[in-house]
Amino acid sequence: MKRMIIFCLCLSVLSGCSGKGKSTSTPAATQVPPTSTLIPTAPASPSPTRAPSPTLPQAAIFERNNRIGRAVNFGNALEAPNEGEWGVTLKEEYFPLIKNAGFTAVRIPVRFSNHAAVEAPYTLDAAFLERVDWAVNNALDQGLVAIVDMHHYVEIFEKPLEHKERFLAIWTQLAEHYQDYSPDVYFELLNEPNGQLTTELWGQFAAEAVGIIRQTNPTRPIIVGPGQWNSAVQLQFFTPPEDANLIITFHYYSPFHFTHQGAEWATGSEAWMGTKWDGSDTLRMIMRQDFFLAADWGKRNNRPIFLGEFGAYSKADMDSRALWTDAVARTAEELGITWAYWEFCSGFGVYDPVANQWREPLLDALIPQK
Ligand code: BGC
Repeated sequence: MKRMIIFCLCLSVLSGCSGKGKSTSTPAATQVPPTSTLIPTAPASPSPTRAPSPTLPQAAIFERNNRIGRAVNFGNALEAPNEGEWGVTLKEEYFPLIKNAGFTAVRIPVRFSNHAAVEAPYTLDAAFLERVDWAVNNALDQGLVAIVDMHHYVEIFEKPLEHKERFLAIWTQLAEHYQDYSPDVYFELLNEPNGQLTTELWGQFAAEAVGIIRQTNPTRPIIVGPGQWNSAVQLQFFTPPEDANLIITFHYYSPFHFTHQGAEWATGSEAWMGTKWDGSDTLRMIMRQDFFLAADWGKRNNRPIFLGEFGAYSKADMDSRALWTDAVARTAEELGITWAYWEFCSGFGVYDPVANQWREPLLDALIPQK
């Protein structure tokens, strides 16, 4: 079934939102951002910058973040309602391909919420979990870091309090399940919290989830980001759980009219067709400012930063996509931010699964050939 994803595009300059939003169930009106920048606004009541806790051995988690390095997302596979329904079924051959191309990690988005009982104790479907294990093990066999990302838990965005217990129960099971796995398996608590799950409320849920995971996985890296679809602007309102082994994430799809032109799930995006990104000094400066926001927050809070998603949809012209992708990846790298491209072989795909070949301009942009 075709997915129904509706965007509520926030005015990033005015509201401090990332300019990216979607839900799989509740239709919402689309607002159009002027230019999608992430220039910081004065916070209504920002959380004060906290001095780094002296007890945290920060060097270790910075090293763990560096192990992610350059990653790619297995988008539209295991986070579809069922694998295959969005056109991507993972294949064993993808893992060595990714490794040999020079990537160092894979982010594996998984819709666990569709594969867990709706009643307590919210048992995860064993066969589905086995399939996730298969993906994780294939990544590990290639020496890739495997990020297990809870993705598209759309119900929790609408009714956070009703779903909190279930969310925590799913993490209890995942934490137990993966406790003896390689330290190269990282957990990502929840992709793009949004809607009723505000940054502040999400911070509370995240702290509880981290507490639960730590009972069985004392040092495994846990990736967590702020609300409003992991917007960098929201970092100023985000109080991460007190824990030594966290990596903080944000997503970047700006300018949104460029990256999401013609995207079927972005209302009104047909009108953005033809938008180019020419890599002008001004555009690059805006991008740098956006990234500085995340890098600076990371510095002040002594936390490593991971850009978990960025990409430009296939309906944009390839020259612009390659230029933009290169600019994002290099800007992140200059600022010490690790990254994961969105995504491997679907609508943003760096790999063409029909021709069985890399889309060279995108691959070169991501992993430049020296
Ligand atoms: C979503 C995808 C979407 C992408 C770009 C991801 O977080 O899970 O469905 O294609 O963002 O909008």
